[in-house]
Amino acid sequence: MLDPKDKVVICGGGGFIGGHLVGDLIRKGYKTVRCVDVKPKSDWYQVHEQAENVVADLNMRDAAFAATKGMDVVINLACNMGGMGFIELNKGLCMISVLINTHLLMGARENGGCKRFFYASSACVYNGDKQREKKVETFLKEEDAYPAMPEDGYGWEKLFSERMCRHFREDWKIPTRVARFHNVYGPFGTWAGGREKAPAAICRKVIEAKMSGKHEIEIWGDGQQTRSFMYISDCLKGIYMITGSDTWHDPINLGSAEGVTINQLVDIVEDIAGIKLKRKYNLNAPKGVNGRNSDNTLIKKVFNWEPDTKLRDGMEKTYRWINDQMASKATSK
Ligand SMILES: NC(=O)c1ccc[n+]([C@@H]2O[C@H](COP(=O)([O-])OP(=O)(O)OC[C@H]3O[C@@H](n4cnc5c(N)ncnc54)[C@H](O)[C@@H]3O)[C@@H](O)[C@H]2O)c1
Repeated sequence: MLDPKDKVVICGGGGFIGGHLVGDLIRKGYKTVRCVDVKPKSDWYQVHEQAENVVADLNMRDAAFAATKGMDVVINLACNMGGMGFIELNKGLCMISVLINTHLLMGARENGGCKRFFYASSACVYNGDKQREKKVETFLKEEDAYPAMPEDGYGWEKLFSERMCRHFREDWKIPTRVARFHNVYGPFGTWAGGREKAPAAICRKVIEAKMSGKHEIEIWGDGQQTRSFMYISDCLKGIYMITGSDTWHDPINLGSAEGVTINQLVDIVEDIAGIKLKRKYNLNAPKGVNGRNSDNTLIKKVFNWEPDTKLRDGMEKTYRWINDQMASKATSK
């Protein structure tokens, strides 16, 4: 069980999920929240002044040891990542993040007293062979990560780090917990610049089309590839539950089971925006696996819960936020 008296460090706290999690913990009454990120503070998505905000490169052993020092709970959300456009072209960079989790685990071991160590894994650990069909029913169960054939680069780093958590738990009793996130989206995330994922990219493209009057949208792939998307509030709830569990320690899916094709995701955003766009399919763009959805049998069994925010509702909030960002950028020019 977690307790608001626990001292918590959020690694990658300047990022999308980390920024929300720090706010969530402060609202829950946590008094000691340390937030560490490599980016300059001016680039953090959210800065919570009640937290101890530290700029440091957690690839470095000393920085990781300092980050974990005196902390009861370590939450590792830090890594070099982005949507398919980023991870397909930056495999080496993604793999270097293995240093972050390695050094944080070593720091937790060295410092002692770590009550929980949470690692954010990904659906990209799943075997590519099991994701060849463009079907919303491509539900991936936890055991589908083996035999190992994860996403090249990023997925291998995640799978290796999961294993490392397991062996630090078995060999040195570090109480690790691991969740495999399936596409998380929501306000205060990346929506431009090359690291953005499909929900934010589609919102931005639809808003750009509206603003420019050029009623066209480019879609990566043929639009038939399928995914599920989890709204940020569900992700926060899941992280808290999984980290707090006294009994469950194996990697577990944390994702929505509401599968859609990318075309259906575009339909939703068009509907929110009140516009219809001509679709141009770019078959040469990075598009990832054909079909992926979260099998939630295990999380329902263990926690009696699964992420349940409807995609339409979450996308509405995300669209409004990106629209505000783009409108204020346009007026400040
Ligand atoms: N967002 C998703 O859809 C999704 C899906 C699957 C898994 N995940 C995992 O969840 C975690 C958080 O994702 P996010 O969406 O918030 O990503 P994000 O990119 O917004 O946040 C990650 C943060 O880590 C920081 N970071 C990178 N290298 C660092 C270093 N060397 N030292 C310190 N900080 C460093 C980055 O600056 C960034 O702010 C990541 O581990 C990611 O792989 C996210």
